[in-house]
Order: sequence, then C-alpha cells, then structure tokens
Amino acid sequence: MTDKPHKIDIQNNLSIHYYESVSSTMDIARKMSQSNCPDHTVVIAKKQHCGRGRMQRQWQSDQGGLYMTWIIRPQLKPDQCFAYTFSAALAVVLTLDQLFKITAHVKWPNDVLIKSQKIAGILTETQFESNRFNYLNIGIGININNQIKTDSFEAISIVDMVQTEVDLNMFTQALCKNLKKHFSNIDANNILKLWKMHNCTLGNHVRIVLHDCAIEGMAVDVNQEGALIIEKYNNQMETVTYGDCIIEKARCELL
Ligand code: BTN
Repeated sequence: MTDKPHKIDIQNNLSIHYYESVSSTMDIARKMSQSNCPDHTVVIAKKQHCGRGRMQRQWQSDQGGLYMTWIIRPQLKPDQCFAYTFSAALAVVLTLDQLFKITAHVKWPNDVLIKSQKIAGILTETQFESNRFNYLNIGIGININNQIKTDSFEAISIVDMVQTEVDLNMFTQALCKNLKKHFSNIDANNILKLWKMHNCTLGNHVRIVLHDCAIEGMAVDVNQEGALIIEKYNNQMETVTYGDCIIEKARCELL
C-alpha cells in the first residue's frame, strides 16, 4: 500500500479513500468497516496486486481499470440485501449508457456484460451481528483502459469498445453518483423489477457451476431474495443462491 489521500465528495456526500496500489480494496474496506467507518465510505485503488474475484478466483487488476469497494451499513433485512449488489450492477449499466451509449446487461448473479463479454464483476463481503448486517462491502471491478489478458474473448474493456482512452476520473464520478442514488433509496421490489428489465439470464438455457457440481436447465425467474430459479431438464425446479452462471448458447441454437 502506498499513499492514502482522503477526499470528501461533497456533491454525493461520500468519504472516498484513494490508493495507488493495494493488495485488494476488499482488505482495506474490511479493516475500515471493522473500525466503525461511516456508511458510504468508499475505497478506490489504481491497481491491486491480489485482486479477488468470486469463487476464489483472481481478479486481474492492472492500472487503467476501476477497483472500488463501497462500504454499506445496510438498512434492509439480510434476505433483501441482494438488492444492493443488483443495484451496483445496474448502476454500472446506467453509467455505460449515460456516458457512452453502450448497452450492457446484467447476468445472474452479478456480472455486467456487453454482448456476451464481461466488462464488470461484483464481489460482496459481509459481517452479521445478531441477525443484522454489521457491514456489506461491495467490491466492483470494471475493465476501463486496462488491456484484457485473455485469449478466450470472455472479457472486454470499455477502451476496446470506444477505441479511445477513457477519462477514469469522469467515469468514477458518474458511477459514484449513480451508486449513491441507487443505494440511498433502496427498495428490493423495484430493484428486482429493474434487474429483470436489464438481464440477459432469464429465458436462457444455463449451467450453474458450483464448487463440486453443476445444475443445468432453463433460467425461469429470480425470486424475492435474488436467487435464480432453474427448471431442470427432468422438469423439477431448483432454487440456486450462488454459483457461476454459464449461458448455454449452443443448446439454445440446437432447439
Ligand atoms: C467477479 O469475480 O466477477 C467479481 C470481481 C470483483 C473485483 C473487484 S475489484 C475491487 C474489489 N477488490 C477486489 O479484490 N475484488 C473486487
């Protein structure tokens, strides 16, 4: 970790902590949330050397991307807290549309895709105390000016789309404004409606990969707790609360 300039974003009433380089903004945020920092404290780093993704994966975190963790002291009940992560993904979709007229979609549980390529991912970390969340830390990683080191065409950066360097500060400001607005007026039912409008998961044949198994079927709905409902190929319904969701295009094309 290097310098730690601290800035108050007066317009959005945020306390933003900027770093040059960190292990992971999740690590910094965890320490801050455990030492009673205020609601809507934000940690941003230019790069991370141990960036973390979902399902114990690494998150490539070279300079040029946006790496942010937003600390929330949730007001909602634990079973409604999916609304914050859904909101975060929707705020990314909105910002891409506002700034670049890029249409992006949300994929269950928390990815943001442009066509079928991933532009942003979201990781959450929580702590409970007597059936209440003490904190909910939402980590958001967005590929902006960083080059994607993958030969699989699964991910994309904004710079690949717009073909010119993006103003990272401008993007960060616009995103923070949208996130603050979404997080401050959170209503799980509305968020779920909005999520369904912008999703690319429902109505598709999917494979949900868990640590030790996979569930295959048609993604038919998301319930009031943000879980995905799958109609399996034996016609039984299964409710899935976590996992990697792979959209099975090949199977769709066969049908
Ligand atoms: C995913 O696997 O899709 C989630 C990726 C989350 C990456 C972000 S970058 C900011 C924050 N710090 C981390 O180490 N991870 C999250």
